[in-house]
Amino acid sequence: MSGSRIISLGHYQPSRVVTNDDIAQFVETSDEWIRDRVGIASRRIAGDETVADMAAAAADKALANAGLTAADIDLVVVATCTSVDRSPNVACRVAAKLGINAPGAFDLNTACSGFAYALGTVDHAIRAGASRNAIVIGAEKLSEFTDWTDRSTCIIFGDGAGAAVVTATAEDEAPGIGPVVWGSVPERGDAVRIEGWRPYVAQEGQTVFRWATTALAPLARQACERAGVDPSELAAFVPHQANTRIIDGIVKRLNIPQAIVAKDLVESGNTSAASIPLALSKLVERREVPSGAPVLLFGFGGGLTYAGQVVRCP
Ligand code: UT7
Repeated sequence: MSGSRIISLGHYQPSRVVTNDDIAQFVETSDEWIRDRVGIASRRIAGDETVADMAAAAADKALANAGLTAADIDLVVVATCTSVDRSPNVACRVAAKLGINAPGAFDLNTACSGFAYALGTVDHAIRAGASRNAIVIGAEKLSEFTDWTDRSTCIIFGDGAGAAVVTATAEDEAPGIGPVVWGSVPERGDAVRIEGWRPYVAQEGQTVFRWATTALAPLARQACERAGVDPSELAAFVPHQANTRIIDGIVKRLNIPQAIVAKDLVESGNTSAASIPLALSKLVERREVPSGAPVLLFGFGGGLTYAGQVVRCP
């Protein structure tokens, strides 16, 4: 096998829309401040849905879009940092909900870079022959880990899930998932955390902001180089959906005026590990990126961790 590729995507968002004006009802903030400093206009907040419910709903759509059934899947990997239960893991719960029989099933937690880490791991598993058809999911219920009295964090996050079906490519077929560039800055891990009991998200916003706008563009460029794709060839860039000012800062340094840049956070907020597959799934659903075109994914956040790769659009 030469590698793997994404053959389909799917996403799920809770129905409840929470606007900036809604949040301004209970903390001192404004629609203008949030749009200006973060870029978010609204976010989706889950009701009774668990992380596993949202993950399974997204995976179910991705499976349907692939034209595959549960019987075809041999590996389920869920990137999440907001699973409440310690065991069973979310991947096993997703497999049980979808009727996937005896898959490899594990969760992976690198917070907001989780989907790109999981996609890299699944690509490696397929290359090693440990899987043929896998589902990779990013799913988060950040609303359960949000201090709704803290205006510096409660304006940022949202809930949702995105999923991709990844399959082995034939020997004569070019790989559709490029080499992953991943890493971390553990000594600055406290800059974003969900810690303690009961755990809430806390962060040093400006530390993360500075790191993201200075350190990440060269790493994203490295992901392109390793895939043999010049940034000028990218059809789209789907970064972690943290802040439009961060995204604009990275885009400027990458110099990719031709690429569609995902800004799903405007209507979805920051959904951590779900943000990249959610945004990518919507771009594909709206047919904004041609099939086979190169798309750069780049996740970053808690840890501090980062990961990215160039994928071919399904
Ligand atoms: O995926 C997780 C990774 N995390 C991130 O990517 C976060 C990266 N950082 C950021 O996106 C930005 O730093 C934030 C959006 C979190 C904050 O924006 P900022 O421009 O860095 O604001 P700041 O923290 O420097 O605060 C500026 C002012 C402060 O008031 P004073 O001290 O200048 O009077 C804050 O108290 O804005 C105030 N402020 C707010 N005002 C209105 C903080 N939050 C709010 C708010 N509404 N919600």
